[in-house]
Amino acid sequence: MDYPSLKLLHLIAAATWLSGMVGNGLAVALLAGSTSANGRALLASLRSWNRWVTSPAAGLLLGAGASIAWQGGWLVMPWLQIKLALVAALVLLQFGLAHALRRMATAEPAWSPPAVLRFAAPLTFCAGLVIGVLALTKPVW
Ligand code: HEM
Repeated sequence: MDYPSLKLLHLIAAATWLSGMVGNGLAVALLAGSTSANGRALLASLRSWNRWVTSPAAGLLLGAGASIAWQGGWLVMPWLQIKLALVAALVLLQFGLAHALRRMATAEPAWSPPAVLRFAAPLTFCAGLVIGVLALTKPVW
């Protein structure tokens, strides 16, 4: 695949992953401690979306990102290294959210996720914004 196509794939995968994570984070925050049938049905749908769309998008993003980083010789740039540290934190958050969706959809009695997961939506939004600005401006120190 050529460089411009990889970049496009990278951006589509990033938008899909981040929007999926924000959706997961909102559901985890709004349904924390709830055992309502509607809430559990929503969590089950989100688990399925997470499994078939959000998680594969993360894999695609990492693969396409690694490929453009390698082809363009970007790995030595500090902006990319900071970006990768933020991406690693988001990957951990994604694992935590997947675990929370599973526990909240099935736990009896209701399970309340830890604060970091209840704040996952704004954390994801802010990290995504910083990552995007770093990638678009490519600051040099
Ligand atoms: C949440 C995750 C990510 C988001 C939101 C994101 C977003 C972006 C954006 C907006 C650009 C600018 C494209 C342009 O200038 O036209 C970009 C470029 C780039 N990204 Fe990512 N990215 C993410 C993850 C990654 C990962 C995991 C890697 C490496 C493994 C990576 C490597 C790169 C590289 C090397 C470029 C520069 C490409 C160029 O300008 O020619 N990105 N990214």
